[in-house]
Amino acid sequence: MFATAYKYANRTLPPRVYRFLKFYRWCARFYLPRRIAAFFIRRTPRVRVFTAGNPNPQFVEQLLRTNVFAPTAMCRVMTRHGSDKGDGWHNYTTVYSSLFSNLRGRPLSIFELGLGTNNPNFAFGMGPAGRPGASLRGWRELFPKALIFGADIDHSILLKEDRINTYYCDQLDEVAIRNLWAHALLREGMDIIIDDGLHTFDGNTSFLERSLEQLRSGGFYIVEDISRHMIVKWTHQIDTIYLTRFPNYEFALVELPNSSNCCDNNLLIIHRVR
Ligand SMILES: C[S@@+](CC[C@H](N)C(=O)[O-])C[C@H]1O[C@@H](n2cnc3c(N)ncnc32)[C@H](O)[C@@H]1O
Repeated sequence: MFATAYKYANRTLPPRVYRFLKFYRWCARFYLPRRIAAFFIRRTPRVRVFTAGNPNPQFVEQLLRTNVFAPTAMCRVMTRHGSDKGDGWHNYTTVYSSLFSNLRGRPLSIFELGLGTNNPNFAFGMGPAGRPGASLRGWRELFPKALIFGADIDHSILLKEDRINTYYCDQLDEVAIRNLWAHALLREGMDIIIDDGLHTFDGNTSFLERSLEQLRSGGFYIVEDISRHMIVKWTHQIDTIYLTRFPNYEFALVELPNSSNCCDNNLLIIHRVR
């Protein structure tokens, strides 16, 4: 009955009202019960580390201390804006909360690939109820002094708002990636880069190999939604190619336990050491 009422509300209510109801329903059904249960339940991520030097990087220690069962304020903010980074299907924002806790007040540059199209002709869209730019607005709220940049293959959803600039990019196209990083505002490099675009191995590696140098020293590059079937392939890629090709970086493949999602709730986190 609730599901039918919900579908009806989605069709009839103005999108803003529907989103508001959806968020408060999520708070009541997921966020608050989980916050309470997390006093008793603890789940930590499984992390495989790949480094040419230090076998125990500090950011990995931080990851291993994170209770990924416990939703955080960052999960709440991202879900309110319409992103799925911490809504329960994914729980990346539990990890981001601990990884970025000391960076929130700094004047960073943050870049995310993948704005969240509604157009079904593009791969990995967010469906008709999705909200293009959701995660960029989430980052803007969470990092009040940061400049936020984004890119997507769908021209029609590119946006410009206070502290947010977005650009066209097809991550499978070498020239498009080169043109992206040539934009004046992007030339100084990024402190955080997130790939939430085309979730394929070729798409991820194509963008990573042409973008890792854009990361500032001390920064983080993150690939979201890695399928569990791809972990072996990524392990091989990092071990045999990336460790040699990118000696200034530490790599961690992070599997987040999540009873709702055992398929694509994995991250690659890369830290630039120098
Ligand atoms: C999952 S959505 C991003 C969601 C958004 N980051 C959020 O959290 O709200 C994935 C996006 O990747 C974009 N995309 C698909 N293929 C792409 C490609 N080849 N290059 C760049 N972006 C692509 C889609 O248009 C879509 O907007």
